[in-house]
Amino acid sequence: MTQRKVGILGLGAYLPEKVLTNFDLEKMVDTSDEWIRTRTGIRERRIAEKGTATSDLAAKAALEAIQSAGLKPTDLDLIILATISPDMLFPSTACLVQEKIGAKCPAFDISAACSGFPYALTIAEGLIRSGAFKNILAIGAEVISGFINWKDRSTCVLFGDGAGAAVLGEAKDGHGILATYLGSEGAQAKLLHIPAGGSRIPPSAASIDAGLHYVQMEGSEVFKAAVRTMSDAILEVAKRAGIKVTDIDCLIPHQANLRILNVVSERTEIPLDKIFINLDRYGNMSAASTIVALYEAAKEGRIKKNSIVVLVAFGSGLTWASCAIRW
Ligand code: UT7
Repeated sequence: MTQRKVGILGLGAYLPEKVLTNFDLEKMVDTSDEWIRTRTGIRERRIAEKGTATSDLAAKAALEAIQSAGLKPTDLDLIILATISPDMLFPSTACLVQEKIGAKCPAFDISAACSGFPYALTIAEGLIRSGAFKNILAIGAEVISGFINWKDRSTCVLFGDGAGAAVLGEAKDGHGILATYLGSEGAQAKLLHIPAGGSRIPPSAASIDAGLHYVQMEGSEVFKAAVRTMSDAILEVAKRAGIKVTDIDCLIPHQANLRILNVVSERTEIPLDKIFINLDRYGNMSAASTIVALYEAAKEGRIKKNSIVVLVAFGSGLTWASCAIRW
């Protein structure tokens, strides 16, 4: 019996309209367009309006993905939403999206930081392949701007808000997901985290005064880990898929820093022109980065029928993930 293959049936994305440029940031903290561009490759990022939450962006991306799959929200069997900036601690943001889009299926969130979308794809792929579910909506969405210390130049220049979504279902004729690979390393959890707001340090006036509810990162250590884990994850998923690295037509990486992508390109020997990059326009959108990049790469014709596409991500946890797809 041949195994059921799982593919992407539709894609959607939503970016807030408000653009925050490096020049805007020059007026907020001691930084410069030149530093941000040369150290990260980022020129601008999108920021959600006050009062807009992750589920608002996610629902818009989801509706586009469902429509492009030729389905209705009531055709969905499951919603998996990856985020580190949920609307609230509970209920899950996925449940809030379910209500907003008019779906009736079960829904839950996953937390794998910037690796969240490929983690969601991996879960969805297994559940569809097993026959337990038919159409699954996987979302990566963040309004991370509310968790950034806008006085800390070492983090505030890096991040942006956005959402992307994919509908997964059965794929035909050898198309679809060829292999996936996930990894975690909890010993390095403190390299990138928000210390307060959970059960370890519940929110209090003291935690807020100490700025413990903001993203904190040891940038250069995270940089080294990102290069190592993303390069390894590309090679491992290629091996699992039975393809050579030279077979990869388009690499869709997590969009944290152009310098990271340059080193990954050198290490894996995937030329830069095969790597889709949009971090210059959006910065690091955490769980939304890879899915928004996949959406744009498909829209721009960088991915065609039969293309071999590899998604690769890295983030807090530490976590990393990769996924090889025949389009
Ligand atoms: O999504 C999860 C994954 N996240 C990542 O992958 C992020 C990985 N890390 C990075 O991308 C880089 O480490 C950063 C972009 C965060 C930082 O770049 P870096 O080249 O590692 O800079 P650094 O932290 O070593 O800082 C170099 C200098 C320091 O000044 P001194 O001590 O040399 O005088 C910083 O204070 O740059 C200074 N600096 C800045 N200067 C102007 C740090 N941030 C800024 C800034 N503007 N925004």
